[in-house]
Parts: sequence; C-alpha cells; structure tokens
Amino acid sequence: MRRKLAAGNWKMNGTGDGLGELRTLSQSHSASAVDILICPPATLLHRAGAVLDGSGIATGGQDCHAAGSGAHTGDISAAMLADAGATAVIVGHSERRADHDERNDDVRAKAKTAMEAGLMAVVCLGESLAEREAANTLDIIAGQMSGSIPDLSTGENLVIAYEPIWAIGTGKVPTMEQIGEVHGFVRTRLDRRFGAGVARSVRVLYGGSVKPGNAGEIFAVPNVDGALVGGASLKADDFSPIIHALEDAAG
Ligand code: 13P
Repeated sequence: MRRKLAAGNWKMNGTGDGLGELRTLSQSHSASAVDILICPPATLLHRAGAVLDGSGIATGGQDCHAAGSGAHTGDISAAMLADAGATAVIVGHSERRADHDERNDDVRAKAKTAMEAGLMAVVCLGESLAEREAANTLDIIAGQMSGSIPDLSTGENLVIAYEPIWAIGTGKVPTMEQIGEVHGFVRTRLDRRFGAGVARSVRVLYGGSVKPGNAGEIFAVPNVDGALVGGASLKADDFSPIIHALEDAAG
C-alpha cells in the first residue's frame, strides 16, 4: 500500500548553519518506517545530501522551471535538482502561485518536466479562506487537480499536498472532518481520472500548521498519508516528534 511520507519545506530559510538539524534528524530517523523528504533551499541541496547520505532521508527542490534548460536567468531546471541529489520537487505551492503568478497550466508543465527528469513531483493544492467560506473548496480542488496534475502521473512520480492557504503559517488548522472530506475527494477524483491502481498508490499529504501537538490526530484521518511541514521542519526538535507520530500511524 502507500508508504507514509513526512516532507519538510524549508521555504526561503536556512544556510549552512541549519545543516546540524539534518544531522540530528538522520541520527534519530535513519531506516525509518516512513519516507522522509527534506526540501531545503536549492543552495543547500548538495550539502544537505552529503549530511543525509546513508540515512535514507531524501532531499527535494521547492520549485523547478518548466523548460529543460535555456535562457531563464535565476531559474533552476529539474535536471539540475536531480544533479544536486534531489529525488523530488515541490511544484505549485500557494506561495509560488501568489508570488510568481503561477497558474494551473504552469504547475502542470513543471510537474511534467520534473517527472520526465525522474523526480517525484509534490503538487500543492488548496483553497483560500474566501473560497472556503463561500463553500467552494471542493470546486477549487477539482479545478486545481484537473489543471495542475499531468497525464503521466503514477503512484511513484506524483504526491499531492493539500494545503489550505489560510492554514499555512497561521496556526489555524481545518477540522479533522474538513481534512478528511478533501482527502477523500482527492482520492475519488484520482480514481475517476487515472483508475483504481493509481488512486490507491498516490500519497496525499496534508500541509498547514502541522505541529508536534496536532500531528497525531491529523495522521489518524483517513486518506492522509503524511504531511508537508513548513515552520516545524526547520528544527529537528519540532520535526522529529511529527515524524514519530507518522511512524506510529504507520504501525
Ligand atoms: P507551515 O507548516 O509553516 O504552516 O507551512 C506549511 C507549508 O506551506 C508547507 O509547504
């Protein structure tokens, strides 16, 4: 079945000083019963990979360009991430959608390029507070799924992260019923588009203010296969209990 996944998104945080946190994590969670992925800034990918070498903890990028290479100053290709040791990349994070005006089409193109480069694409979806309050959440998720997820997706190359925008970095978390509703909906939509085999194997993560104190109840929600963690992934003391909660949920 689906192997659970604890993913950390460091966002625009971290210099070489933060690598000690990874050393601590690798000591506590090598050969874990769950998959662990750290997405540091691209500048740290190579050094993070060296620190985590042999621990089983993987590294990923936070974004990639949709093109394979070319005149795109400041951008990073999927192949460059892979060359720096990454095995995954986050695409379509709401902060990229907001800060860089990324649309579903852009996200799908990036995910496709990432998959073709052999990376696992972590495609982010999520509604704004206004959309939630207008009872449009499932419509938004359906549109983001059909627009952002490439046809070549499989259980190996696709992970979906449901991150309600209003829960990111705010300390606010949806009710467990709300999380379960969206995750169940995502699974049903995957089944309808890709069939039961793919729907059964794609991991669907929850993200948005996941902390040691709420991880256990979130991981008990059906169809939640792990978490995409921002702030609490920066410190081993915070991320480690979240990983432990997921290991407990994995049995
Ligand atoms: P926080 O865990 O800091 O709320 O961030 C969630 C997130 O955006 C992960 O991608």
